Amino acid sequence: MEYLYQAGKPNGKKFILLHGTGGDETSLVELAKVLDPDSTILSLRGEVNEEGMNRFFKRNGLNQFDFESLEKETDNLHDVIKQISQEKGIALEDWILVGYSNGANIAAHLLLERETALAKGIFFHPMSLEVHTQSFDLADKTIWVSYGGVQDPIVSDLSFSTLVSAFRDRNAEVAAVKTTHGHQVTMEEVQNAREWLKG
Ligand code: MLT
Repeated sequence: MEYLYQAGKPNGKKFILLHGTGGDETSLVELAKVLDPDSTILSLRGEVNEEGMNRFFKRNGLNQFDFESLEKETDNLHDVIKQISQEKGIALEDWILVGYSNGANIAAHLLLERETALAKGIFFHPMSLEVHTQSFDLADKTIWVSYGGVQDPIVSDLSFSTLVSAFRDRNAEVAAVKTTHGHQVTMEEVQNAREWLKG
């Protein structure tokens, strides 16, 4: 997997960045620096190519997900994160997964469907992928999630709330933020996530 790694200051946050459809490992770097200028960054590039656009798992059209690819790529992502974390000497529980859209979707899926020491996430505009095969407790997980409101053409209110419930029902701590600007990430949201990180 292609990735970008930037060591930050020792007390900075440690972010794993997962871009949206059509992005790459550089897409969320500036956002991460707003969240914490001192952060260490591991930014991954999705290995699925959809007509020139990078993604983290295949789909057959908008929100028509390829579940076989989703499971395979989730395992692959988890393995790559474990391997790089070991090489860099960073404990899995010290990372904060930061994803947007497709990247947020695979990160949330990883936390819901794989037993992992990864424990924290900031997910911009994720949705439920409707896969609920696991029931292990998520009390060690803390996530911040945002939703673009009725203006979001991709994530519906129901899909967002289904995802939030999937975490809360299994005892994860969830902070959910609603914006009115559709699927794009706003500075207001990023600032909200930054304050949440400080708290
Ligand atoms: C996207 O285009 O990234 C979708 O909204 C979410 C996904 O396909 O996972």
